[in-house]
Amino acid sequence: MKLDAEMLDLFTRELELCGVKAGETVVVLTADDEWQENANAFMAAAGKLGAATFNLNVRRTQTNAVGVQGRHPLVGNTLAMQTLKSASMVIDMVGLLFSREQAEIQAAGVRVLRVMEPFHILKQMFPTEDLKRRVEYAKGLLENAKQLRFTSKAGTEIVYKLGQYPVISEYGYTSEPGRWDHFPSGFSFTQGDDGGVDGVVVLQPGDILCAFKQYVQSPVTLRVKAGMVVDIAGDGADAELIRSYMDSFRDPRAFAISHIGWGLNEKARWYQFSVTRQLSSEHVMNALSFYGNVLFSLGPNVELGGTNDTACHLDLPMRNCSLWLDDLEILRDGDVVHPEMRVSPT
Ligand SMILES: [Fe+2]
Repeated sequence: MKLDAEMLDLFTRELELCGVKAGETVVVLTADDEWQENANAFMAAAGKLGAATFNLNVRRTQTNAVGVQGRHPLVGNTLAMQTLKSASMVIDMVGLLFSREQAEIQAAGVRVLRVMEPFHILKQMFPTEDLKRRVEYAKGLLENAKQLRFTSKAGTEIVYKLGQYPVISEYGYTSEPGRWDHFPSGFSFTQGDDGGVDGVVVLQPGDILCAFKQYVQSPVTLRVKAGMVVDIAGDGADAELIRSYMDSFRDPRAFAISHIGWGLNEKARWYQFSVTRQLSSEHVMNALSFYGNVLFSLGPNVELGGTNDTACHLDLPMRNCSLWLDDLEILRDGDVVHPEMRVSPT
């Protein structure tokens, strides 16, 4: 198979950031015939860096299809799991995301890199060491904060008590044993304490409904009490859309407040859904990562060690918000103002 030179170059740089070297084994995990071009290029890149590499390909069935919570093709596949746990690094193109199997692979000291965006997005949002520095700085701040508050001129005013849950950083590569990351990305996040989130969130036109890959068109007001959304109001279609979608899961835990953080990848674009012609192949990493967003979300908290595993998850990246950790100002009207995380203008 002919390899695209630009892809090989980009993936080689990505694996260099991941510290891949001779003597290591990089396993590329794929399902069916998905992402085969990316898989081949990653193997060629690993080989170029002197690492041993191969493709572990598994079969999707109806019960382990993408998006079925807690189910994926590695459940019960002992031999495949032994193989992955023996690797130095796994490139995950299947989607083990926060499953027990992923935790097991990480616990064996294997670094795991999730890749699920098409090449043009991997290139557009390609990570840097400076992005890592700023995302890890955000993580450190979140780990030491007791409270997160964010507001907006549209009427958002909400407070999260912090301290109960860990903090996860995502900057697009991983060089530490046992660490997971997502290529590409650019944010840190945590979860409010159980019952410890109260206030009002007003979604505005231009904020993003990741589940539908579309923009909010009409204001939606979410009232939050003790970590749960208790009211969804708004005159336009969006309030109705969100309410009906959440109701369809018939699960009261869908209304829980999920992870919270802010975006730091200056290469990510909030307007990506409007400019792309490949919406069906793209995931939502631009929306989750764009610089200065507040990544507000509803639903599960298992990825941070909680017990809410509802299948209803809404990521709602918001623009033009201001955010503080305790009394420390981080964002002002959708711009990063903290000097350690701000991108210097070029
Ligand atoms: Fe999320």
